[in-house]
Amino acid sequence: MLYLYIEMNVMTSAVTASAALSAAALPFARATPARLQAAAAISRSTRTRRIDLVIAGPRGQVGSALCRQLARQQAALLAGAGLDLRLLAAFDRHGLAFSLEGLDPPAPTPFAPRQPRDVDALLDHLCRPRAEPALLVDCTASDDVADWYPRLLSAGVAVVGANKRANSRDLASWRQLQDCASVCGTPYRYETTVGAAIPLLGPLRDLRLRGERVLGLQGVLSGSLSHVLHRVHAGCAFSAAVAEAQALGFTEPDPLEDLRAIDLARKLLVLARECGFALEPADIHVEALVDAAKVQASGLDAALRAQDRRWRERVAEADRAGERWVVLAEVDAGGGRIAAQRVPATSSFAALPPGQNLVRIRTDLQDAAPLLLGGPGAGPEITAAGLLSDIVGAARELAWRHG
Ligand SMILES: NC(=O)c1ccc[n+]([C@@H]2O[C@H](COP(=O)([O-])OP(=O)(O)OC[C@H]3O[C@@H](n4cnc5c(N)ncnc54)[C@H](OP(=O)(O)O)[C@@H]3O)[C@@H](O)[C@H]2O)c1
Repeated sequence: MLYLYIEMNVMTSAVTASAALSAAALPFARATPARLQAAAAISRSTRTRRIDLVIAGPRGQVGSALCRQLARQQAALLAGAGLDLRLLAAFDRHGLAFSLEGLDPPAPTPFAPRQPRDVDALLDHLCRPRAEPALLVDCTASDDVADWYPRLLSAGVAVVGANKRANSRDLASWRQLQDCASVCGTPYRYETTVGAAIPLLGPLRDLRLRGERVLGLQGVLSGSLSHVLHRVHAGCAFSAAVAEAQALGFTEPDPLEDLRAIDLARKLLVLARECGFALEPADIHVEALVDAAKVQASGLDAALRAQDRRWRERVAEADRAGERWVVLAEVDAGGGRIAAQRVPATSSFAALPPGQNLVRIRTDLQDAAPLLLGGPGAGPEITAAGLLSDIVGAARELAWRHG
């Protein structure tokens, strides 16, 4: 049982740690070479800060890529940044692994089947008074894990997430979470929730901090929908393009999720709030690529096939006008909109290869020539790399706060 294991191990490590601390505190009467060497070792050890990591979803696409990258970088981060990142625990809905000495990140095993009290015990352990600095990395898309953030942040446990759920709820919950992190001074980073490792949210925050007002933002942010429209322009039937994107793993298991732009609406809401627009989820208007009522009536395949002819005509018209169809997500003070739109074939949005994201940000200082930020918008490896950047940033802040 994890909760008994935690109790016993915390007592043992507390004894070891206090012995080490008393040895380090011994006064040095004379600077002999041996004493200088010992002093240097103590100084090095005090510049090294242990940070306990907990990964939620370590066996998913992003979580497993993160575990591999963490294993590769652990020694370099210790040597170069003085960060001793130890994987204290890893869990999903089915299993949990825990070790006070640190798990082996590429394969954080053994995974014991999860017991009902395990998660509460883990939370209590992380949030206990005078705990080691710790950081939760959320690699799930789960509301349950997002529900933990306020308690963790209030207790000083940093949160780094690829999970959009917490930041795309109603405005009051979002504000409460942001206040919780800032009032408690706890790092809370979620750059990878939009555009994987493309720096978007950080630069938006920086614009606001330096007093530059964001007027509006436009972006191509869905790899799956970009792929579908790209293939339709290449002559593929709409229904076949959706089936192809699904077979290639670009869509959610249920492609209706992508076609209804549910995830894209969450991304736009996260971006909107970072721009300073106080929007509720209902302020994001979505024109879905498929009519939910028709899907209910005739099934997804038939509803998609029924659109093949319309999309052939739409593409032919766009071609004649020198334009292309893209799914644009736009937001300004008036709200958010997501819809398929025609843009000039020469525009940056039209020229974008599928899988790439591009965001165009208009500010009061950069209106005529807006700021463009882009790059690969999804993929487990690049998302994990973005998470690792956030982890290092949050760990540095924790190390600084804990001295
Ligand atoms: N894939 C990408 O390219 C990408 C890019 C940017 C952002 N993201 C975001 O990153 C997150 C993970 O994406 P993914 O593609 O890695 O998904 P995934 O492969 O489905 O992995 C999610 C993992 O979370 C675990 N999980 C689900 N509910 C849980 C819960 N309540 N407690 C603990 N673990 C739970 C799942 O394991 P069990 O089902 O066994 O519990 C699974 O291993 C999502 O929020 C996604 O939107 C992904």
